[in-house]
Amino acid sequence: MVAASTGGPRVIFLGPPGAGKGTQAARLADHLAVPRISTGDMLRDAIAAGTAVGKQVGPIMEKGGLVPDDLLDRIIGERLRMADAANGYILDGFPRTLRQAEGFERMETAHGDVTDDVFVLSVEVPRDELLRRLSGRRWCPQCQATYHVYNNPPKNDARCDNDGAKLIQREDDKEVAVKRRLAEYDERTAPLIDYYRGRSRFHRIDGYRPPDVVFADLLAIVARRPAAAARAEKPA
Ligand code: AP5
Ligand code: MG
Repeated sequence: MVAASTGGPRVIFLGPPGAGKGTQAARLADHLAVPRISTGDMLRDAIAAGTAVGKQVGPIMEKGGLVPDDLLDRIIGERLRMADAANGYILDGFPRTLRQAEGFERMETAHGDVTDDVFVLSVEVPRDELLRRLSGRRWCPQCQATYHVYNNPPKNDARCDNDGAKLIQREDDKEVAVKRRLAEYDERTAPLIDYYRGRSRFHRIDGYRPPDVVFADLLAIVARRPAAAARAEKPA
């Protein structure tokens, strides 16, 4: 188990659509007993609930575009202030633009936290494998669990293991939207790799391996204790 930093373990998952961010973020959050904060899931919840935000973002997401930065800043700002995020969190899908990354730094600095202590894990997978994963992904509209028709099929044909709901294909996993999502990633999210690269807690992860093998790597990385935690425990 990872020793908590002064504010608990904090992790950002970077990576293109289909890299396995959601799959690994869920496992790591369970393991570290911290919330997984997936902006994609939060936005899909808003669409399902028919809120004003959901109505605004629905058409953008369906086509594979990115939702405006100011909306994301607000959503994440509110989420990080919730009590369960006080002892750490896993960010899955945020930040996704330089503006979001800068906004996140300002937010965390305002809380007195050291953003250098945040692990940034960049999951890398070849493009043809991303396409294979996205086209075969199936999704539970009730609990948002994800499956894959070949790699990770449900126990019962086309039904969610958790709640029995009928699995569907995400609208943005269809071909045209996938192209746009990949283009958005290349143009607006991939530059974050350079933004974070110089930091001590930036790690590239080879995501083109079985999920258990990828997860073992992640665990080894986050088990390296943040210096701030060690400093905090040393007697004065
Ligand atoms: P989001 O929900 O974050 O989607 P995404 O980034 O496109 O990523 P995916 O969920 O498609 O892939 P993943 O990396 O999580 O892979 P997964 O684990 O599912 O965002 C959706 C939309 O919301 C965006 O397009 C945008 O519109 C909006 N949005 C969200 N955040 C935003 C932000 N910050 N700013 C602006 N807009 C935002 O795995 C994929 C498949 O592969 C699954 O079937 C899985 O079973 C399988 N798989 C996983 N790992 C492996 C493995 N190791 N080997 C084989 N198969 C595997
Ligand atoms: Mg995901």
